[in-house]
Amino acid sequence: MIYETVVVTHDRDGNPNVAPLGIREQDGMIVLAPFRPSVTLQNLAVTGEAVVNMTDDVAVIAGCLTGRKDWPLVPVEHVRGARLAQALAHVECRVERVEEDEKRPRFFCRRVHEQTHAPFKGFNRAQAAVLELAILVSRLHMLPMEKIDREIEYLKIALEKTAGERERLGWSWLMERVEAHRRATHAGEGSIA
Ligand SMILES: Cc1cc2nc3c(=O)[nH]c(=O)nc-3n(C[C@H](O)[C@H](O)[C@H](O)COP(=O)(O)O)c2cc1C
Repeated sequence: MIYETVVVTHDRDGNPNVAPLGIREQDGMIVLAPFRPSVTLQNLAVTGEAVVNMTDDVAVIAGCLTGRKDWPLVPVEHVRGARLAQALAHVECRVERVEEDEKRPRFFCRRVHEQTHAPFKGFNRAQAAVLELAILVSRLHMLPMEKIDREIEYLKIALEKTAGERERLGWSWLMERVEAHRRATHAGEGSIA
């Protein structure tokens, strides 16, 4: 099972990096699997510390994917680093061991401290739709435009029926990316013809 979270890491100088990341659990540990190259991977390798954030604010996830990484953070106490201010819960983690891999090393992290800040409010279809659109946007270069449009048509139903302000904001940022990709694809087709 994979849970989609937001992971805050920091570099040697303490500069934070915020990135959406799927986490797995194995033998009581949290497993982070960042692709090469990524800032998260670099930071984990250098500091061995991470803060995993559970959030229902899909604007943060859509924002990170569209170059908006500057989210309000609060320092944490049990590892060096920070958590998302709007996290429902966070886990402070220390890397215990690394399974090396050419594409995607796996960092097995021990939970040092975990804390809940706000209750889970229930499932929201628009949040799930924004999350799915974020995944589509991260794969734009690999997918045909017809498939992207078909999936967006379906996801839009949940958005229109159940979204709040944060979901609409996240959706709009992601759709800007889809439209930019569409223009670039059409421009490319034009230049070939
Ligand atoms: C919901 C979601 C889950 C993601 N999970 C992962 C993951 O498990 N590993 C990964 O490398 N990238 C994942 N990504 C993509 C990263 O967030 C993206 O590659 C990011 O650019 C890496 O950021 P960084 O260079 O700041 O570390 C995910 C993206 C989304 C939207």
